[in-house]
Amino acid sequence: MRADIERFGGTVEKFIGDAVMAVFGAPVAHEDDPERAVRAALAVRETALEDGGFQVRVAVNTGEALVALGAHPAEGEAMVAGDVVNTAARLQSAAPANGILVGEQTYRATDRAIEYRDHQSVQAKGKAAPVVAWEAVQARSRFGVDVARSYNTPLVGREQELELLVAALARSQDERAPQLVTLVGVPGIGKSRLLAELLGAIDRGDQLVTWRQGRSLPYGEGVSYWALGEMVKAQAGILETDAPDEAAAKLGDAVRRLLSDSTESTWIESHLKPLAGIGADETTGDRRGEAFAAWRRFFEALGEQRPLVLVFEDLHWADDGLLDFVDHLVDWLSDVPVLVVATARPELLSRRPAWGGGKANAAIVSLSPLSDDETARLVHALLEQSVLPAEVQSALLERAGGNPLYAEEFVRMFGERGRTDADLPESVQGIIAARLDGLPGEDKELLQDAAVVGKVFWSGALAEIGHRERSVVEDRLHALERRELVRRERRSSVAGESEYAFRHLLVRDVAYGAIPRATRAERHRRAAEWIEALGRPEDHADLLAHHY
Ligand SMILES: Nc1ncnc2c1ncn2[C@@H]1O[C@H](COP(=O)(O)OP(=O)(O)OP(=O)(O)O)[C@@H](O)[C@H]1O
Ligand SMILES: [Mg+2]
Repeated sequence: MRADIERFGGTVEKFIGDAVMAVFGAPVAHEDDPERAVRAALAVRETALEDGGFQVRVAVNTGEALVALGAHPAEGEAMVAGDVVNTAARLQSAAPANGILVGEQTYRATDRAIEYRDHQSVQAKGKAAPVVAWEAVQARSRFGVDVARSYNTPLVGREQELELLVAALARSQDERAPQLVTLVGVPGIGKSRLLAELLGAIDRGDQLVTWRQGRSLPYGEGVSYWALGEMVKAQAGILETDAPDEAAAKLGDAVRRLLSDSTESTWIESHLKPLAGIGADETTGDRRGEAFAAWRRFFEALGEQRPLVLVFEDLHWADDGLLDFVDHLVDWLSDVPVLVVATARPELLSRRPAWGGGKANAAIVSLSPLSDDETARLVHALLEQSVLPAEVQSALLERAGGNPLYAEEFVRMFGERGRTDADLPESVQGIIAARLDGLPGEDKELLQDAAVVGKVFWSGALAEIGHRERSVVEDRLHALERRELVRRERRSSVAGESEYAFRHLLVRDVAYGAIPRATRAERHRRAAEWIEALGRPEDHADLLAHHY
């Protein structure tokens, strides 16, 4: 808990019984102290729920207080006192279990960044009027779909690559100019992992940074700006199940929070709508230039608030439209600290040999295989034992070719079978196929249905496609999660449905490849029916096209 508070720049002032009091903005003030405090509160709640299942009640209050500068909080001396502190205590005792209440000044200072719901006013002793209160729900800058936030394996190597990313972010801030870093490498080499490490480094830093992430889908044409759509939807808090009106209202709010000029915000909103799946797509022909300008302005406004990281995952699947836009963005953003990070398999460079070339603010980082030594370290860490039979070890190092995903899959196979033959599959795909072959038939079928839906899927879809009981689906998915084939997302973009993702896209690809041809069409048809029943037909039209 102390760590959560300090990570956001707070100081733990004292423990009173089972209560903790922390101070933000004293002795050193930041302009965004109220937001830091609320974010710390959200983090504390998350930690409490995850690690111990104990409950917390939290309140955040903002105002002027008497600060004793010479106090030593570590020795239990009080640092702050005053009405603001007393009111905070009242709010805290009125907070619901696992709820976070904030007072008016905090609410005003943070409602751009934090989503609140109304709460009834709180009666406070010694105050004539009740204290108005809001309940913090979540940070508006929720992460887009499909960001792995934690890995239970240690990172080996890649110090320089990570340093380069951190330095590029710092440089974008020093120069207030965009930086583009493209991470290039074969499947499983560690591009996405490096992004997660960058996110971790930012989290540990003392600065608030906006992180927006979108991925390109392997279906090719039609879903060209999907990645931008994910960023916009995440910013506005739009769910896939929101009806068009609701989605439009959220988008309007989000844009107005960013841009005060109403002519400008209306113009931008009209161009963001198609990205969020509201209204028709008008980005073809000569309207494209205007759309690009509007989108760029949107990201600029985000960057004006605070440093911004835009992540484009799997850019090798992006079509020319998106590649052109990323190019445009990096060329034309000005006077804002924006780091654009893209990941791509090497195909991107065969398609666009000049990608990033000729720009002073662009770099391509190609991820080379891990050394044998690093691979061995990774395997040992994963196995939690130090020795493999020598012939297995050397076969492994040879086959893995420095690919960490191969090493991981090997270890899981070893764990599942308790032994392994020195005769290992040739490729990452091969070793994944071997693991899938070892699954019970029902699980294999379930994974195949999931693969039909995509990298990200929902339990309801699997129930529909395979005519299964929901509870059966959930149980099976739990088992597959334990085998680390899939992972459950903490938040779902479809209301009322658990969202899952394949741990790795290659698992999805291999599962998909194993579907008998005769049943593919039928499974796609049922997946399409399920998607069609979600909120917004236009937004899902492209996804549907892939299934029909
Ligand atoms: N340096 C590393 N140390 C430890 N584990 C790693 C490292 N790099 C990658 N891994 C692990 O290997 C697996 C594959 O990595 P990742 O998903 O980042 O690959 P990728 O390059 O994004 O592949 P793709 O092109 O298919 O998206 C992950 O589970 C990741 O945790
Ligand atoms: Mg990846």
